[in-house]
Amino acid sequence: MVISNSQPLRQNTLEVNLGAAAKNIQAVRNLVGPNRKIFAVVKANGYGYGAAEMGSVFVKHGADALAVGNLSEGIRLRKHGINVPILVYPNSLPEAAKETIVYGLLPVLVDLESAQAYSNAAKSPYDVFVNIDVGYERLGIPAEMAPDFIAELLKLPNIRLGGICAHGHAERADQAYVEWQLNRFVSVVDKVEKSGVKVPIRLLAASPFIMNFPETYLNAVDPGRMLYGINYTDEETSISLKPVLKSLKTYVIAIKDVIPRKQFAELVPFPITRPMKLGMIPIGIADGLTWLKGGEYLFVHIVYQ
Ligand SMILES: Cc1ncc(COP(=O)(O)O)c(C=O)c1O
Repeated sequence: MVISNSQPLRQNTLEVNLGAAAKNIQAVRNLVGPNRKIFAVVKANGYGYGAAEMGSVFVKHGADALAVGNLSEGIRLRKHGINVPILVYPNSLPEAAKETIVYGLLPVLVDLESAQAYSNAAKSPYDVFVNIDVGYERLGIPAEMAPDFIAELLKLPNIRLGGICAHGHAERADQAYVEWQLNRFVSVVDKVEKSGVKVPIRLLAASPFIMNFPETYLNAVDPGRMLYGINYTDEETSISLKPVLKSLKTYVIAIKDVIPRKQFAELVPFPITRPMKLGMIPIGIADGLTWLKGGEYLFVHIVYQ
């Protein structure tokens, strides 16, 4: 698939490999087995590769549901005809309640004020997820406070618990750290279930956990970056992931001669040690290329036409 910027002079083309995306979701399915739910993460416009295109491939090749970062991403997927469950990660503000329900999206709640708005907007019991924090120290009810929060939440007339989710923290593969987070998660589920409330979906494992800690799979997983074939250089994994990024193509739109400066030489934005030819390419942060400072390099493969 090709994502093109059609403006004249900004003919940048990102080529993505849909076959690789299919292989990656199949690899996750093989790992987690046939019975666990896979929520394929397509937030941030499918990690930059196109949420609808990536989402469609993931659903076709094994995902049960998708996960997005905000309401408008979820609505776009619905308008694209995607009808599997779509989890809207934290950001389920009260203002989003009506549309979330109209588009049949699954909100992730962390406060009672929002929950009240969802209960008011729903005409009958509506499934919501509760986000708990087990180690990331980001958004999410701290695990120890979560059972009481869930008990309060479920007093609202139109709120039903669809699941509990957390984003585990594992930049480094530390078994004890992962077990601590898993135990915090499981103890919330146990307490909630002991109170007589079923927790249908238990979602903890994103890419780092999926790649190295099978005990964290519970009954659902939410892989993101691994589906795009992105893993860190120092990350160990036996799973073969295929890069979805095939190429990023652009054009040289101008060439100019530069010579070493005599004045303000020490302030030169990049090293000019001899007369050089400089090619300009019309690509930058607006195209998803991260900030580069003078003196930093990009590997460029030039094709003469
Ligand atoms: C809440 C949440 N869960 C899961 C993921 C997927 O994480 P990863 O890309 O490490 O698989 C993300 C991505 O940022 C996220 O925000």
